[in-house]
Amino acid sequence: MSAMTVRATPPAADLEAGGEVRAGRDHLIRYGGEFSDLLIEHAAGSWLTTEDGRRILDFTSGQMCATLGHGHPAILEAMREASGRVVHLFSGFLSRDVTDLARELMAVLPEPLTRAMFLSTGGEANEAALRLAKLHTGGHEVLAFAGSWHGMTAGAASSTYSAGRRGYGPGLPGTMALPTPNPYRCPIAHCRDRCDLTCLTAGMALADAQSVGAPAAAIVEPILSAGGIVPLPDGYMAALKQRCEDRGMLLVVDEAQTALGRVGTMFAFEQHDVVPDFVALSKTLGGGLPLSATITTDAIEQDAFEKGFLHVTSHVSDPLPAAVGRAVLRTVIAEDLGSRAVAMGARLRAGLQELQRRHEVIGDVRGVGLMLGVDLVSDRETREPDTRYGSAVTERCIELGLNVNIVKFAGLGSVLRIAPPLTISAQDIDLGLEILDQALTDCR
Ligand SMILES: Cc1ncc(COP(=O)(O)O)c(C=O)c1O
Repeated sequence: MSAMTVRATPPAADLEAGGEVRAGRDHLIRYGGEFSDLLIEHAAGSWLTTEDGRRILDFTSGQMCATLGHGHPAILEAMREASGRVVHLFSGFLSRDVTDLARELMAVLPEPLTRAMFLSTGGEANEAALRLAKLHTGGHEVLAFAGSWHGMTAGAASSTYSAGRRGYGPGLPGTMALPTPNPYRCPIAHCRDRCDLTCLTAGMALADAQSVGAPAAAIVEPILSAGGIVPLPDGYMAALKQRCEDRGMLLVVDEAQTALGRVGTMFAFEQHDVVPDFVALSKTLGGGLPLSATITTDAIEQDAFEKGFLHVTSHVSDPLPAAVGRAVLRTVIAEDLGSRAVAMGARLRAGLQELQRRHEVIGDVRGVGLMLGVDLVSDRETREPDTRYGSAVTERCIELGLNVNIVKFAGLGSVLRIAPPLTISAQDIDLGLEILDQALTDCR
């Protein structure tokens, strides 16, 4: 007999009483706290349906990926077509879906961004950008915000400061944090409701003091998401780019959540008059399928190639996700979803500001386009984050039929993250606001 033992199936009575689900849960690793009690059976547009028939309005676009909405026909069609052609290939082989996606992406990116590689997740896209930056510069020092989230692979996680650092041993040598330029919660208690970039000057001075003379890159989100929906203040990205250039560092802009229309423009960096050395795309590019891209210049690509750049993964350049990426990009352009994000974002923001007038707990409403944050405080003057209330509100929202996240990592506030699909209707925006209003009232 083999050493492997086969488990008995649970008794029939247990299965009937939902034991099947419980038994299934017992075999899952809990990777981010407890799972929700819901079992989602179907998703279409901005709506989820549970197995027991409850409908939930999705104000977080899944895990911030379903910007076209769930089950968009263009994505389903691309999957159907691509799966009839070729799904997966040896990493050295190319397919037309991949070369076409590269060409079509470059048509919407500014010079000198001309080269892409396609991977699966946001962490991987950042990892590849950081490895290219290290190989090209010869350095290894990487700066990132204290409120950052760049992914769970080792390099990306070493530059993720918002959460998940304790208990996993050392991060990569040379990784350093910059203060998060949040005008509502100035990280150096210097400004209030504006940012004069003193935090950048202070942060760079600290980084210079710690440097062993091996600069490689700074990696930033144009709007920090896990960090509490913090758009970079005017002039910050350009000033950071200049400081990077002064030190021989490259700038990586992580557009996981902000690219492809959510903030009105195709890419958020366009609103900062900066062309970075690397752009990392993920979440929104696959519209719900695992697809990411690291994009850089000819000069960096050529140098890295000559130095033997190696970054092969099982799913690099896979045709099927690339076909979906093309469908997403084409849909964002054809349906002018950037303009839609501006219009729907204005409606949502106005509604949230109206809630702010009636609910003392809302200290700040901020964000760009359809990526908005509602900062919950126990005192509007001190701006003390109200973490208990935030969790209660999101739980009540779910009971009332609205999925909205709370981001509340230590020192970063307690912020409702509101980012529905760009295809959401005006009625659904209004309905979500009504539910949020009710939840805020019920949890008082
Ligand atoms: C800004 C940003 N970058 C990178 C990532 C990591 O992406 P992934 O989870 O696909 O690895 C995330 C995930 O939430 C993110 O928000």
